[in-house]
Amino acid sequence: MILPDPIIFNKPLNIWLGFLALFLLLLQISIGTRILKLPFWVHTRVVWIALLIVVLIHGFYGFELYFLR
Ligand code: HEM
Repeated sequence: MILPDPIIFNKPLNIWLGFLALFLLLLQISIGTRILKLPFWVHTRVVWIALLIVVLIHGFYGFELYFLR
């Protein structure tokens, strides 16, 4: 393992990162479609960066867990 693989509330961190990624994706789509009326800069400057970072870490963990150990 390149990254540590901690267990949080009895589940591996990657599971929680996956739920977080799903939440951020639905949040981003909800703001983009104006279902949620948050300021648009949250869509264009904040959530997409957070989503990109979470998804890259989540994907790397998945790859690491299945292919690199
Ligand atoms: C995974 C989903 C999405 C991601 C990662 C995303 C990301 C982004 C980003 C990074 C920008 C800024 C682009 C720029 O500054 O030129 C943007 C702008 C925008 N997004 Fe999204 N978006 C998503 C979904 C949606 C959806 C579902 C809608 C609406 C149907 C939407 C509507 C818009 C609009 C209207 C803009 C402003 C475009 C402009 O005037 O330049 N987005 N989005």
